[in-house]
Amino acid sequence: MIHIGVLVSGSGTNLQSIINACASGELNARVTIVVSDNMEAYALKRAEQAGIHSRVVTKEDFPSRVDFDMEVARILKDFDVDLVALAGFMRIVTPEFIRKFPGRIMNIHPALLPSFPGLGVRQKAIDHGVRFSGCTVHFVDEGVDTGPIIIQAAVPVYPDDTEEILKDRILRLEHKIYPKAIQLFEQGRLKIEGRKVIIKGMKKQEDSYLVNPPLDS
Ligand code: GRF
Repeated sequence: MIHIGVLVSGSGTNLQSIINACASGELNARVTIVVSDNMEAYALKRAEQAGIHSRVVTKEDFPSRVDFDMEVARILKDFDVDLVALAGFMRIVTPEFIRKFPGRIMNIHPALLPSFPGLGVRQKAIDHGVRFSGCTVHFVDEGVDTGPIIIQAAVPVYPDDTEEILKDRILRLEHKIYPKAIQLFEQGRLKIEGRKVIIKGMKKQEDSYLVNPPLDS
């Protein structure tokens, strides 16, 4: 049973998917603390409803990013966290923070990295005319959305998609792959080797593929 600390800034649907996976037994884990940099975040309500401790840490109260991050790290250590899950946390964590939790910080990003890192990426994917986008769970390194990739899921993108439509299509998969990435971590099946994450006992799907538009269209 691992302890997870989840960092949020917004609605917290990914937090909810992790809470649900813990409650159903799919994940042998417990969210022990939720930290938000935004006291209006709906994610805080979700934590409260699930009986999970939460803390709000606001940037105005700290002279620097490192001071802010050290406060967050202190809270996470207080709650004995084994894994830090960034779930819609709208801040870039400092190298000092990363060093406190080596190989133990994950993030979810709503695109197929390394394409479209950063912000506003669903609209960027639509505007670029890509046929697929998706989501990525990766370990956090010192870059922005550059860390070793654990799991990705792909969805089709259509030229007439709106940002909202694509967001929902991707979000449905985010809610599946984040708990899965955490399960693999909890089972001790993830090993970081340079840029790659090796998954022990991973099944291969040699014959699986996606084509958009379909070959018969
Ligand atoms: C998700 O799209 C996630 O990929 C991105 O921020 C969003 C958070 O959504 N990092 P929620 O707060 O989990 O609903």
